[in-house]
Amino acid sequence: MKITVVGAGNVGATCANVIVQKELASEVVLLDIKEGISEGKAMDMMQTSATLQFDTRVIGSTNDYTKTAGSKVVVITSGIPRKPGMSREDLIGTNAGIVKGVAENILKYSPEAIIIVISNPMDTMTYLALKSLGVPKNRIIGMGGILDSSRFKYYLSQALGCAATDVQGVVIGGHGDKTMIPLTRFATYNGIPVSEILDKEAVEKVAAATMVGGATLTKLLGTSAWYAPGAACGALVEAIVGDQKKVYPCCVYLDGEYGQSDICMGVPVVIGKDGWEKVVDYKLNAEEQAKFNASAEAVRGMNSVLHDMKLI
Ligand code: LAC
Repeated sequence: MKITVVGAGNVGATCANVIVQKELASEVVLLDIKEGISEGKAMDMMQTSATLQFDTRVIGSTNDYTKTAGSKVVVITSGIPRKPGMSREDLIGTNAGIVKGVAENILKYSPEAIIIVISNPMDTMTYLALKSLGVPKNRIIGMGGILDSSRFKYYLSQALGCAATDVQGVVIGGHGDKTMIPLTRFATYNGIPVSEILDKEAVEKVAAATMVGGATLTKLLGTSAWYAPGAACGALVEAIVGDQKKVYPCCVYLDGEYGQSDICMGVPVVIGKDGWEKVVDYKLNAEEQAKFNASAEAVRGMNSVLHDMKLI
């Protein structure tokens, strides 16, 4: 079984490395437009195989999509990452055309692939892939909510002074500094609501830190993060290829769920071999639903740029 990762930058290469080290496929193709970069990174990864004892092959490809043919899962990370001070939304002008071209090339050689979109602004890029490819909605998944939830659990664990693996938390909504919604009401420490342990102010501080979690890293690194995005992507790919039926918040096409339609946004979904299988309903209260609606309006505003650019 083959998995392709498009874009051999920090995020793409790290995604590929996680997939390879977990042996989620027999072959991983890493494709980039920059001459030699994907071949170099693929060879570097292959040279960890004897040390780390994995048998997945990694193949680099400079823009040759024939090598991606027959992929079961394709991860799209193409485009530019943000720089300090930029929002994910600032990237749309550059990334939208790139993502559309990549998605179309992918579908030509892997018509049955499940496509994971990571390129930013992710919710809009996922919508673009769905609208321009016309494949069943369950096969297009934007990866953002798993990452944001992982950051939420990190900040919760810091506030609680506990292990991040002992914390449960989910982030829904858009994958933007202002559009994501950490569901603090549902966050628990081994089943105990965190609101019973932390005061309101501390919980709000965690939520605020989560929302700008990516921007905080961009400021420190000078570019966007890659370890946590790579790990989150690996978890999603593992749930697909292992038909795990795990629930992860992912950006998917909504058709009335959570009160929204004709939009791709982050909601908890069951992930299995066919992609996302169903939306899990968290029964939001009025305040949470209002935040979700506001988030949808912001994402819709971004999606309208796709029309202005004549991409959909
Ligand atoms: C982040 C990018 C990958 O949040 O969107 O780090």
